[in-house]
Amino acid sequence: MLKEVLGTVLSPEETSQVYSAFDQIGSIVIIKIPDALLSKKLVIAQAILDNIKTARSVFAQVSAVQGDFRVRDLEFLAGQNTTMTEYKEHGCRFKVDVAKAYFSPRLSTERQRIADMVQDDEVIVNMFAGVGTYSIVIAKANKTCRVYSIDSNIAAAELCTINAKLNKVQDRVESISGDAAKVIKDRLAGSADRVLMPLPERAKDFVNEAVLALRPSGGIVHYFAHVRADNKKASQEAGLADASEAFSKYDHTAKGIRIVREVGPRFYQVVADVYVSR
Ligand SMILES: C[S@@+](CC[C@H](N)C(=O)[O-])C[C@H]1O[C@@H](n2cnc3c(N)ncnc32)[C@H](O)[C@@H]1O
Repeated sequence: MLKEVLGTVLSPEETSQVYSAFDQIGSIVIIKIPDALLSKKLVIAQAILDNIKTARSVFAQVSAVQGDFRVRDLEFLAGQNTTMTEYKEHGCRFKVDVAKAYFSPRLSTERQRIADMVQDDEVIVNMFAGVGTYSIVIAKANKTCRVYSIDSNIAAAELCTINAKLNKVQDRVESISGDAAKVIKDRLAGSADRVLMPLPERAKDFVNEAVLALRPSGGIVHYFAHVRADNKKASQEAGLADASEAFSKYDHTAKGIRIVREVGPRFYQVVADVYVSR
């Protein structure tokens, strides 16, 4: 569909360059415009708006996803100049501000996979929760679990509070604004059956706090990492090695390793399900 849209204003080669870097989050489309096509950015944006019925705003991504809050700089191109939208996934609704908080529609399968693993009455600590995506998908899927949903970005934590209410799970999803390491040390040590670490760039730095959050009897940590590898099989081996090293101080077993997505050429995001006994 998008290929056809772009084909009306670009050559086939130009079309494939834009096509590979396209995200739609609710009514907002974010594209990366290669330097060679900058002169055509407004034409491209208008073609998207005219042809994708659900698109209301088009922005260009003008920086990498960066900083502690993992946000990207955006340039408004066409349509309504708003960065707020609503996104629907797995029967949940999320208010998202694409300029102020991290959000990726590409992690939807992983959110459901973890939600499906949760057992009744579990206590879950989501250390890097963003607008509450994993936390809310989990709380919607299991009506008896409780989720502590932490993010150091105040804008993300505020949206998580709003999203918990929107999805009627505010009694079981508590949004906490602050540094995950400090929040765990101050009030969540020894409380969790399951800990999520969806910050692949830095999860390794927080392994001690993730283990501290677990109950004295132990539990499961979903450890996200970025690895470089020549192919998918090698990325899983690299991911397991990375997780084993990160948890080497603890009695643990990495029971599953999955490729979440390819984030660049020979560069993968992986997740290990690490069972830790304390
Ligand atoms: C890659 S995003 C993931 C967000 C969310 N889990 C999702 O998938 O949509 C990582 C999040 O971690 C937050 N973050 C970074 N450092 C943190 C810290 N020390 N404590 C708590 N949150 C942190 C960022 O603000 C960001 O929202």
